Amino acid sequence: MSGGHVLVVPGDGIGPEVVAVARRVLDWCVAKDLVGLTFEEAAVGGAAIETIGRPIADETVARAKASDAVLFGSVGGPGWDEGPPGTRAGDGLFRLRRELGLFANLRPIRVSPALEHHTSLKPETVRGVDFVIVRELTGGIYFGEPRGVEPAEGGERGFNTMTYTSAEVRRVANSAFALARKRGGWLHSVDKSNVLEVSGVWRRAVTALHADTHADTPLHHILVDNCCLQLIRDPSQFDVLVMSNMFGDILSDGAGALTGSLGMLPSASLGEGTRGLYEPIHGTAPDIAGQGIANPCGMILSAAMMLEHSFDRKDLADRIVAAVDDVLLAGTFTADLAGSGPAVSTDAFGDAVIAALERG
Ligand code: IPM
Ligand code: MG
Repeated sequence: MSGGHVLVVPGDGIGPEVVAVARRVLDWCVAKDLVGLTFEEAAVGGAAIETIGRPIADETVARAKASDAVLFGSVGGPGWDEGPPGTRAGDGLFRLRRELGLFANLRPIRVSPALEHHTSLKPETVRGVDFVIVRELTGGIYFGEPRGVEPAEGGERGFNTMTYTSAEVRRVANSAFALARKRGGWLHSVDKSNVLEVSGVWRRAVTALHADTHADTPLHHILVDNCCLQLIRDPSQFDVLVMSNMFGDILSDGAGALTGSLGMLPSASLGEGTRGLYEPIHGTAPDIAGQGIANPCGMILSAAMMLEHSFDRKDLADRIVAAVDDVLLAGTFTADLAGSGPAVSTDAFGDAVIAALERG
């Protein structure tokens, strides 16, 4: 039987609540002998700041490196996000991404048939939408130097640096091409090459890689502003999109609106091998934490992505996705999707998913 070891990071806010549900789904798979997984838990983010005074312990990084996958809730919250860079809750996550070499962040945007009528767009616009944003995760303007704030006449001046080398572009574009080929699809590379030099480097590197090793996969270049329009106007035209760190941050939230709720969205952060970190896109949602009403779908679907990418079990991942769809199709919704109708709790949604898996 396939399997391995998973480091589980519940984190802060609604993180522990949704991670508990994803764990129940994975425990069900293990109990049924469908996959062999072992688990251990670690504190990262606010949970670590409260106990060791830092957002992550060196030992946690070492344990992550020794694991086959990291299943991550979410980190941050009032009181943990305001200190100097390096001390904030999110720095625990940034360090894991960096030290594990996770440069490709996969954000699938898939509209469940049950949610076509739960978005602010026309059902026919979102019907069947199924694409993946591949966001570069360890470079770009998030980490570029120089950065800072300095005094300037009349106030201050802030500056950041958007930088990519061809090598950085190639490795993330290579992952995106591989994914597009696996899906039998096509790739859109998103940039702002009509204005930014860094985007010129991006476009040339993707074009060269395409010619060298991925000529069989259709490639389209699209400017980020037009991409933003097209994602809302006609999202079905997309299959896989690759883009820089900040463009991916922005466009993935926008694309999230197509699915009805940010709570639906999973993600996988991958490097060269099969080890990955899997986390929902929603944050810690401090406003609803502790109430047991969070949508666990993004977290459950992140666990499914883990089974697919780190444990080569797409079959099992598909079963979990189908079980979540079944539950939604039956009209079972958490508060974010229920509108004026009845809503179930996070745990009750988990019960329904397990029941759907049992019916299988
Ligand atoms: C995301 C988030 C993070 C990011 C924030 C919380 C730092 O918005 O994962 O999209 O910008 O990467
Ligand atoms: Mg974001």
